[in-house]
Amino acid sequence: MLRLRQIHQIISEDYRRATLDACLLSFDPRGAARVWTKARLRDVAPPLVAGMAVDEMVFMLTVAMEIEEPIQEYSRENGEGFRLLLPELGRFMGKNRDEAASAELLGLPWCESPWCAEERRHATTFARIVERLSGSAPPRANPNRPRVVTPRREDAIRLLLSREAAEWNSSSTYVVMAAHATGELHTLLRNVARDEIKHLAILSAVDLLLFGRGPWRRFTRLVRQSLNEFRGQRKVRTGGRRMGSNRRTAFEVVFAHLAAEWRVRRWMRTLDRARLSELFGREAAA
Ligand SMILES: [Fe+2]
Ligand SMILES: [Fe+2]
Repeated sequence: MLRLRQIHQIISEDYRRATLDACLLSFDPRGAARVWTKARLRDVAPPLVAGMAVDEMVFMLTVAMEIEEPIQEYSRENGEGFRLLLPELGRFMGKNRDEAASAELLGLPWCESPWCAEERRHATTFARIVERLSGSAPPRANPNRPRVVTPRREDAIRLLLSREAAEWNSSSTYVVMAAHATGELHTLLRNVARDEIKHLAILSAVDLLLFGRGPWRRFTRLVRQSLNEFRGQRKVRTGGRRMGSNRRTAFEVVFAHLAAEWRVRRWMRTLDRARLSELFGREAAA
């Protein structure tokens, strides 16, 4: 059963202007992870899946878990990639090569930035939900491999576009999953979706800062990037069904992407580039 009404409701709540503003203003490379709404994992059970076969939910969770898993490597990619272009963003999203090496030497946590702390809990949460819904823990072997990047400007731009598209795709997909969940399962999925919405808000603001206003140009870039990722992901799935094979879910996911983008676009119109420049410390990069 399609749950477009529920998807619309979540999006109008979580992508409203005040929420996106708060997401952006919470940008602090030295800050802590976003606080989650409390939910009890042990109360998650198959009857909480609504309007979707439990198998389909488990499939979506497993794909999401596999995509989320290589986050440690991504943090290094981000830290190194944004090192020169936007150092504060690099710090927010990871560690550069030198920072990672000295952390390793001192036995410090690999990455304690807010983005890392937020992303790190996603794969684990999905894995635990899969276990509750299917009765067995999913294998954590991962077919995804991050790319190697350098701090060159072209690499940083490419990295930004791929991260921005990834946050758009993950937030929209998790909104669909939350729309098919009730009770504790809904709360957990909503927590993850809200982390991704925060990341999307921050990266959309960075997009505006670097490329200026051009909503259709941005949309085309995001769609192109997402389609590339989607084709790549279809090839690297560990097995079983292909992504997008359930037409109803695919329709809902596309609907969520468009509804989210419409809201983000409206919000971006209210942003001021001079203030963004201050927020992301662009001067430091010049
Ligand atoms: Fe994530
Ligand atoms: Fe994210």
